[in-house]
Amino acid sequence: MNKRKTAAYPFAAVFALFMAGSIIYALESARPTDAQIEQRVKDTLAKMTLDEKLAQTAGKEPAYKYARMLTNMGDETWDGPEIKKLNVPAFYMIDGPRGVGLQKTTAFTVGMSRGASWDKDLEYRIGEAMGYETRALGANVLLEPCINILRHPLWGRAQETYGEDPYLLGVMGVANIQGVQKHAMACAKHYAANNTEDNRMSVDVQMDERTLREIYLPHFKMTVDAGVASVMSSYNLFRGDKAGQNKHLSTEILKDEWGFKGFVVSDWVTATTDGIRAANGGMDVEMPEGTHLGMSLKKTIEEGKVPMSRLDDMVARILREKFRFIPDNYTAGYDKKKVAGSEHTALAREAAQKGSVLLKNDNNALPIDKTKVKTIAVFGKLANTKNIGDMGSSDVHPPYVIKPLEGIRNKAGGSVNINYVEGMDPAAAKSADASIVFVGLTWKDEGEGNDRNSLDLHKEDIDLINAACEASSRCIVVIEAGSAILMDSWKDKPEAILMAWYPGMEGGNALADIIFGDVNPSGKLPITFPKSADQLPPFMNKDKEAKMDYYHGYRLFDKKGLESTYPFGYGLSYTTYKYSNLKLDKKSIGKSGKITASVDVTNTGKVAGEEVVQLYVGYKGSKVDRPVKDLKAFAKVALKPGETRTVTLEVKAENLAYWDKDKNGWVVEEIDYIVFVGPSSAQKDLISDSFKISGQ
Ligand code: GLC
Repeated sequence: MNKRKTAAYPFAAVFALFMAGSIIYALESARPTDAQIEQRVKDTLAKMTLDEKLAQTAGKEPAYKYARMLTNMGDETWDGPEIKKLNVPAFYMIDGPRGVGLQKTTAFTVGMSRGASWDKDLEYRIGEAMGYETRALGANVLLEPCINILRHPLWGRAQETYGEDPYLLGVMGVANIQGVQKHAMACAKHYAANNTEDNRMSVDVQMDERTLREIYLPHFKMTVDAGVASVMSSYNLFRGDKAGQNKHLSTEILKDEWGFKGFVVSDWVTATTDGIRAANGGMDVEMPEGTHLGMSLKKTIEEGKVPMSRLDDMVARILREKFRFIPDNYTAGYDKKKVAGSEHTALAREAAQKGSVLLKNDNNALPIDKTKVKTIAVFGKLANTKNIGDMGSSDVHPPYVIKPLEGIRNKAGGSVNINYVEGMDPAAAKSADASIVFVGLTWKDEGEGNDRNSLDLHKEDIDLINAACEASSRCIVVIEAGSAILMDSWKDKPEAILMAWYPGMEGGNALADIIFGDVNPSGKLPITFPKSADQLPPFMNKDKEAKMDYYHGYRLFDKKGLESTYPFGYGLSYTTYKYSNLKLDKKSIGKSGKITASVDVTNTGKVAGEEVVQLYVGYKGSKVDRPVKDLKAFAKVALKPGETRTVTLEVKAENLAYWDKDKNGWVVEEIDYIVFVGPSSAQKDLISDSFKISGQ
């Protein structure tokens, strides 16, 4: 009897899985073709009244709900109207970049941590999980990824984006979107040049066209080319008008030049100030309600100040993405039990493992072999604090959070005495075999509407590090924060430094996995860690007008010959790697050609690991001023001890173009190019070769 019952159990489970899978497959494969969508858009539009069309161009939320968002709402979506008789579904929009902003969902690591993973496969899987949870909970637009350039580490929302480089931002943003959009709509934000918080609603961002095209837009174009359903226009002005009302940005470039077929949704409330300029500038949906679009547009349509053709285009864009992503029975086959279920929480743990960056590790202070130590002293409030990031729109409300101390205790088990001291106790540090000091920032220091006011750690953290490392012979510092921290004043004190960012709901377990060596850290910095604030461009978060220069981050440091504390692309491992045998498949290519670089990477250490192989390109004899080098390709490769893999990386000539302001277009120069390959952007780490571009 038991045998049969036991036998029956797996069959039922397999059958249920098969059925769920086939329902999702059926739904997936039932996705309508572009031609079917266009026909349905045309037919539906023809049946809509003026009021029905107008209503589609705005959310239907009272503005008071926006006020509640600032008090950590987390319990409902932002909605847009349906038209039942025409089978036009409603919008149900929800944030955000580290998980679905509803109750008891998976809290992943912040975007900056995923940027530090340089792992596009991981980012695809995280996007897919977030998209699944979005749909299982009935929402249909996930308001992420945030792909703004990190221009300055004081930006309050640095944690939400993937870093300072357009190419890394684009690759990670595309991976996320492709994952999310297996299930729901994604939204690339904030378009464009939203780089400060304190003056975000009023600052007028200025920059020349070349800076716009080469630095602030390439990653958005990559998401449009990948089929992102929506783009969110930012609060800031751009060249004198709100970004979503700036026709050059939101129509001429985004729609006319790039061919974006989805919809532009405003950021909330004050991102729209004028219905005529918003509609004619390229905005398609105003959220959270129609103060300028929606029914507020009726008079201007009737007076012809906004042409009917533009309203039809706005509605067509909205319908196109609704019909593309919201079938009947939208949530059928989606299991709410998977929301923050074991599969997704395991993924959150993997994200925290792969996003952590080992910055320093003298005398192999890490990993700690728990069979060889008796006592570990753990210091710092953050060791025993839930610290998953900002509590603004990107906030997530997971069913639990594993704090670092909890993760260490889970892992060390009864074999090691974990002595937790919230403040400082030199005797505890002295008597322990190792001391781990948790320091960093919280949502109080940085977040939406709240730029950082310092690049340093809090004074009490620095004092804690100095005291603990003075007394301990094996001192390890773990930092939680969303961006770069100045370290020069204390970084010589600890033997090891681990950058954990905001590590999500499984962060404590993931950090313990790394600390005790069950995971070999593979993260690399997606931003430059400067030695001092005066190395950086002006932050301009109090200015009325902010002119963004072409250079920031590693490009600025290269150009000025500045030394950073830790450079873009840098990260250590518990093993070591050797790069050799760099080869280019051609010495010359045409303007429409591509170059393929191959390099041998060897794990020369004793433990398996994953290495991020980076390829930068430099320019010799350019007609214009160009960066010393910029990132053009990367790959993450797993290597066993002693293993050598040949890694190949491709670069298309078209991706080496600069924006020529006289031609008002892209130009691929017929000059020599240098290919740099290595483990970070540090010149000393790179091996190089060169090729030329000539002819077509
Ligand atoms: C906020 C944010 C944006 C978010 C939106 C909805 O102000 O700037 O990122 O998606 O409002 O919460």
